Amino acid sequence: MGNANGELDNELVQAHAHVLNHVFIFISSMSLKCALDLGIPDIIQNHGKPMTITELVDAQPMLNSTKACNIYRLMRILAHSGFFAHQKLDGDAQKEGYVLTNSSRLLLKNNTLSITPTLKAAIDPIFTKPWNFLGAWFQNDDRTPFETAHGKILWDYCSQDPQLSDLFNESQACDSRLVTSFLVDKCKGVFEGLNSLVDVGGGIGIVGKAIADVFPHLECTVFDLPHVVAGLQGSKNLKYVGGDMFKTFPTADAILLKMVLHDWNDEECVTILKRCKEAISSRDNVGGKVIIIEMVLREDDDQVFKSSETKLFFDMEMLVLVNGKERLEEEWNKLFLAAGFSHYKITPIVGLKSLIEVYP
Ligand SMILES: C[S@@+](CC[C@H](N)C(=O)[O-])C[C@H]1O[C@@H](n2cnc3c(N)ncnc32)[C@H](O)[C@@H]1O
Repeated sequence: MGNANGELDNELVQAHAHVLNHVFIFISSMSLKCALDLGIPDIIQNHGKPMTITELVDAQPMLNSTKACNIYRLMRILAHSGFFAHQKLDGDAQKEGYVLTNSSRLLLKNNTLSITPTLKAAIDPIFTKPWNFLGAWFQNDDRTPFETAHGKILWDYCSQDPQLSDLFNESQACDSRLVTSFLVDKCKGVFEGLNSLVDVGGGIGIVGKAIADVFPHLECTVFDLPHVVAGLQGSKNLKYVGGDMFKTFPTADAILLKMVLHDWNDEECVTILKRCKEAISSRDNVGGKVIIIEMVLREDDDQVFKSSETKLFFDMEMLVLVNGKERLEEEWNKLFLAAGFSHYKITPIVGLKSLIEVYP
């Protein structure tokens, strides 16, 4: 890639910059985590107007005085990646302060759609350590790099470590809050004609609870591993049941699977889907269906901000943590046919997620 005079050509320089960018890409998430550790988004929000670096430093009395001069560097990289913006100060056009962007608003403590738990879980050392074993995993017999790193599978780790379990469940719950607000508002038709629904692998029940509240005639059950649902309180039309979905789960008019199948390989998915088919068929109803909320990999994904790359990140995360995968439509189709379903309908709903209704 050098020219005849031995000089570096443009392509080589670009390739070098490209590699370096990827070498240091983790700095983006770690800088974001640091801003959250210091409470910076909430400090700026509470300030109520553009906040100068001096004001930002003064608002953090816990900062070591010899290090506070570096806060501008943290803010500079996060502004570069779109988490903060500069705005002129009222009454002093020469000076600028930091304001939040739509992205950093999603990191505020009191934002019901906060993504902070997802960030905290994704970069927790228990979840990042397995990445060091990905190469070794390709050569060994372990089920996942997670197992190579920790000696047990994720679900067993969670059942034995309440702190990790809370971190994981809360990260799932915050994803569910975004999807749920859309689901019960814009997709009401999906639940029409149903009298009962089981949310299998429903976590701590964010989706189940919202559906039960909006459709009071619908009998809802949230089914998950016993340690996940232990101690959770149901309501008039919502109950929690603990168990193993590979063995059995309650029957219903519809089974909901949100971000469950991407945790499993194709064979395991077919087993789960066959159980779902049995569960909806035994109800002697004609309207039974499986409602899946998952990502569908597509060619035109980048219509939403960097979504194809984000979906591929998720795909690799599933490989490393649980031996699962994100799937193309043809891969979903194969699973449904193998489990004995006849047809399905995919509707993109919100962000990276689609709703897939699958019929016997
Ligand atoms: C990726 S989380 C999705 C949680 C929830 N559906 C959501 O989207 O927020 C997968 C869920 O499957 C549950 N799970 C894993 N293995 C299970 C099993 N054998 N039986 C029942 N639930 C299981 C986990 O505890 C976890 O809550």
